[in-house]
Amino acid sequence: MNSMILEAKEIYKSFFRLNNQKLDIIKGVSFELEADKITMIVGASGAGKSTLLHILSGLDYPDSGSVKIKGTDLFKLSDEKLSKFRNQNIGFVFQFHHLLPEFDALENVAIPIMINGKSLAQAKKEAHNIIELVGLSDRAHHKPSELSGGEQQRVAVARALANKPSIIFADEPTGNLDSFSSSKIHELFRELNTNLKLTFLIVTHNPELVKIADNLFEMKDGLLTKNK
Ligand SMILES: Nc1ncnc2c1ncn2[C@@H]1O[C@H](COP(=O)(O)OP(=O)(O)OP(=O)(O)O)[C@@H](O)[C@H]1O
Ligand SMILES: [Mg+2]
Repeated sequence: MNSMILEAKEIYKSFFRLNNQKLDIIKGVSFELEADKITMIVGASGAGKSTLLHILSGLDYPDSGSVKIKGTDLFKLSDEKLSKFRNQNIGFVFQFHHLLPEFDALENVAIPIMINGKSLAQAKKEAHNIIELVGLSDRAHHKPSELSGGEQQRVAVARALANKPSIIFADEPTGNLDSFSSSKIHELFRELNTNLKLTFLIVTHNPELVKIADNLFEMKDGLLTKNK
């Protein structure tokens, strides 16, 4: 039987424009994310994909509705408990990597491990293993500005892996990459999925990336429909 790692029920989200006009972006999305699989969401620009991803990963609140990850109801947690839960269970890869420019690749991965309570030495040791996992050992001491776009994105994936999450959320992870670097990221996702049993939820416009999806959804008119 398929097991579900995340269950979202009746998610609604609207934004108010400056003139007070209400924009209904998500209109009652219920969604289940299958464990150990790579699931993707496609849809037109402005369809609400990033908004939904932020809500499903507990980075933003819906107007109503619930999200349970491994049975924990995210929006019933206090802010403090929610960030702790996110830090321990979720990794997020943004379209623009948001790496810290002052720190090298290894430190960018070690910092979230320290935030999660490990010593500097232990965090660096674990970060080193993760940097190796994404194939960047020879770039560990490069700062983001000294890395190519594809390498920066691999560091961003490494950082998302820092605290051994069970789900990786990725918003347009290959949006800024050429096709070679993109295909390296796809291979990495599939490897991590197979070797670490990681669950992925990826928003993408990239038709090549869509090919490796186990499950595929489309966001349209405020709703998600399953395409595969
Ligand atoms: N904070 C906000 N205030 C007002 N409107 C917003 C806000 N955030 C998003 N929106 C609007 O909600 C809609 C959905 O935005 P969202 O970023 O989720 O789209 P998307 O599907 O990720 O698009 P893209 O593919 O271009 O990244 C857009 O029309 C956007 O302008
Ligand atoms: Mg978006």
